[in-house]
Amino acid sequence: MAIDVQIFESEQELDRKAAEWLAARVRPGAVLGLATGNTPIGMYRELAAMHRRGQISFAGVRAINLDEYVGLSREHPESFAAFMEEHLFRWVDIAPEDRHIPNGAAPDPVQEAERYEKLYWEIGPVDAQVLGIGSNGHIGFNEPGTPFDSVTHVVELAEATRIANAPAFGSPEAVPRYAITLGIRNIMAAREIILLAKGASKAEAIRRTLKETPTPEVPASVLQTHPNVIVLLDREAAKLL
Ligand code: F6R
Repeated sequence: MAIDVQIFESEQELDRKAAEWLAARVRPGAVLGLATGNTPIGMYRELAAMHRRGQISFAGVRAINLDEYVGLSREHPESFAAFMEEHLFRWVDIAPEDRHIPNGAAPDPVQEAERYEKLYWEIGPVDAQVLGIGSNGHIGFNEPGTPFDSVTHVVELAEATRIANAPAFGSPEAVPRYAITLGIRNIMAAREIILLAKGASKAEAIRRTLKETPTPEVPASVLQTHPNVIVLLDREAAKLL
């Protein structure tokens, strides 16, 4: 099936559409696959507002995040656990025991990846998966070259990723070197996927994702082979299509 690509004139329209898409899938028992990063912040803000207005309840929903930095505890301000707390969890009624994210502080990250893989299949597969995209085409922290059949694993972050994420840490060297991420097989097991991209820095990755033959060199290009994907873009991210 062709991917449904939608282009928005304003960031707020994109955020609202993304929030409406996810909200329509929120029901008791639903499993949501969640992403961090700058891109979904506005969507989470909209979801929190919908919850505040009494328009949605997340009661009975289970959330499973894509990834976490190795070496950061959930209390670390730049951990993805802290990000989720700040931008979504503190504002909505997902039960604390139903919020899942790899433990970046686990003494053995490989064992933690194995635990998370098992957990993924106990809870999942995911009903609705939210994705951002790296400027190198990564999804989750599946960097270029990751096999399409990969499962949850420890990854050494690409230089491009450490540079992109440097502002929060002060410098690329301060960005953790490793992360735990769901694999591409996990992501592809989701029933429905929404990919969000904003800004010119994502334009080339979006072009390759949507226009080139799927290749592990552009991890997001695997989405062409998924039956149910929607892609929301701003004008800048869509400018090479
Ligand atoms: C985040 C994640 C990453 C980001 C991507 C884009 O959980 O898995 O793939 O979605 O790096 O990040 P932003 O949105 O900050 O440009």
